[in-house]
Amino acid sequence: MIQQAPPAAARQRAFELRHDIDEHNYRYYALDEPSIPDAEYDRLLNELRDIEQQHPSLIDSSSPTQRVGAAPLDAFNSVPHEKRMLSLDNAFSDDDLTAFDQRLKDRLKSDETIEYACEPKLDGIAISILYENGQFVRALTRGDGSTGEDISQNVRTIKSVPLKLRGENLPERLEVRGEIYMPSAGFAKLNQSAAAKGEKVFVNPRNAAAGSLRQLDSRITASRPLELCAYSVGIHQGLALPSKHTDILHLLNRWGFKINPNMAVAQSINDCIAYHQQLGEKRDELPYDIDGVVFKVNSIDLQETLGFVSRAPRWAIAYKFPAQEEMTQLQDVEFQVGRTGTLTPVARLKPVFVGGVTVSNVTLHNKDEIDRLGVQIGDTVIVRRAGDVIPQIVSVIKERRPDDTREIEFPATCPVCGSPAVRVPGEAAIRCEGGLICPAQRKEAIIHFASRKAMNIDGLGDKIVDQLVDKSLVKNVVDLFSLLQQDIAGLDRMGEKSAANLLNALEAAKQTTLPRFIYSLGIREVGEATARNLAAHFGSIQALSNADEDALLAVDDIGPIVARFIRDFFTEQNNLDIIASLQGLGITWPESEPQNAALENAAELPLAGQTCVLTGSLEAMTRDEAGERLRTLGAKVSGSVSKKTDFIVAGPGAGSKRTKAESLSIEILSEEQLLELLNQYST
Ligand code: IVH
Repeated sequence: MIQQAPPAAARQRAFELRHDIDEHNYRYYALDEPSIPDAEYDRLLNELRDIEQQHPSLIDSSSPTQRVGAAPLDAFNSVPHEKRMLSLDNAFSDDDLTAFDQRLKDRLKSDETIEYACEPKLDGIAISILYENGQFVRALTRGDGSTGEDISQNVRTIKSVPLKLRGENLPERLEVRGEIYMPSAGFAKLNQSAAAKGEKVFVNPRNAAAGSLRQLDSRITASRPLELCAYSVGIHQGLALPSKHTDILHLLNRWGFKINPNMAVAQSINDCIAYHQQLGEKRDELPYDIDGVVFKVNSIDLQETLGFVSRAPRWAIAYKFPAQEEMTQLQDVEFQVGRTGTLTPVARLKPVFVGGVTVSNVTLHNKDEIDRLGVQIGDTVIVRRAGDVIPQIVSVIKERRPDDTREIEFPATCPVCGSPAVRVPGEAAIRCEGGLICPAQRKEAIIHFASRKAMNIDGLGDKIVDQLVDKSLVKNVVDLFSLLQQDIAGLDRMGEKSAANLLNALEAAKQTTLPRFIYSLGIREVGEATARNLAAHFGSIQALSNADEDALLAVDDIGPIVARFIRDFFTEQNNLDIIASLQGLGITWPESEPQNAALENAAELPLAGQTCVLTGSLEAMTRDEAGERLRTLGAKVSGSVSKKTDFIVAGPGAGSKRTKAESLSIEILSEEQLLELLNQYST
């Protein structure tokens, strides 16, 4: 069949679209200044795709439509690197870094301070990308440093990898080196959807990036949220490059590469130490994982004078942060009994220093998690502790399994009270059936009752509750209020003064609020937000305890499961007796109108009808305070993101809630925007 030449108009439009899309890509990745919404970008790309489909002769390998992936390969080809890809020496302390600087000065026989480029050390996969006359030619992995694998098909699919360089004055040949990594938000989303489909989840973003790049089918790579950050030039021909490393990176940026916005220039090694310290403090807020800082002598002349030894350059060093993942041995598993009787398996580990602290216990959550990990007692495991997230076992190194490992068995009876422990149908949890007979549940119930967001009994911590229950001074929360000075003063860590303080705190706690009181009862699945909704809806404990399931279902955020838990709680005579006794002891709260009566006024508030979620940390106020202020403006503050959420406020450290909001296209406010909103309505 003879192909008709495409009309000039189609050719022209394809040209314009490619130009515009490249421009938007450049703004988005290299400049970090998105210029159009994602939907508009997709529309341009679709228009171009349509034109190319109608006129295949217009397809060009550097067209942005060519990032969807190609037919699967049988294997990757090995290709030698024209210039070896080196790795880096490590420093683990300020002293190591100072010694590095001194070594360089000795070698250069000069006492002059050395200028360094400081860059975050991204935790991803090193890549070498070759451009000829501005066109993407191929991409190689680092491999053993001398030979890499050709993963061009995969790398072409990554949007921050330019297929064509920008500008006029381009080198004939240019090898750009950098790191391909998976940003944390994309990683969380990828794992969420894998888990939902029952597929294997990746243990960390680095593994996810490596796994995504190793696909023989580049269409899979195309679907993964990978990014490239450029950090150096390998071979180059036909154009002289600037004489400072940081200027070379800025030139790469103008040619279309993303470079790290946290890059800096330090005038001395002491400035480098300060940079490492500052970046360490920001580490958990960065939208990607880093495992340290790379310092490079900034002058290319000096770099050349210094040269390299075996596998690493003399002129650069990686100053590592404390590792967020370490290997250790799981020595035993014990079971803790929670407030609602859930048996939680806790792994006892050979103590290991990870993420800046020594970890010797980690929760294994439940039976499903143990099955998912396939972990046994005696196994070597990888423990991860990132930021202030609780430590987790992320994987088991099965190759290191000794012959004498044991399966983790759930006990048939509660390890604390000996009552039967049963798996609740439809739940991952195994529960002690002892209820308040079980000292462990009793202790947890009392600790919850006393906690800050419940009755806020200052000074009644875990250790005191343990002793009160063990010495049979307290069986339930009612007994707290008949404690005598001498009972308390006789406990470990308690003197006359702290005993008197605790009695005062108990007295003060008697004046409370209805939401706090409801929350303090420890009804299953009734957290702070639900307690607040129940209080607003029913207005009194009497009305709440009389409510049937239908009445409960009419309350915001309450579904059939929680309604059933609430009903069960109030059908138990023992619980009603406890409430009556507490009221008899003088626990009171201001009476409030049920919400229905107060509704008229509420509907006029500026944020009436809006549901929001607060996540991450805030600086100007706590999340509780922010929630309180939003509520006074009529907003409903919920604990979880759903389709009904109108907006979320996300501070640094926001994780899965932010990701979920993104996936549902829910508006995300920064703290700054929240403050603006609050100020707008404050009187
Ligand atoms: S420079 C000769 N800069 O760290 C210089 N490497 O441990 C070699 N990395 O294989 C690399 N961020 O994959 C350099 N800003 C950065 C980096 C970086 C991450 C990785 C890179 C390298 C490894 C060395």
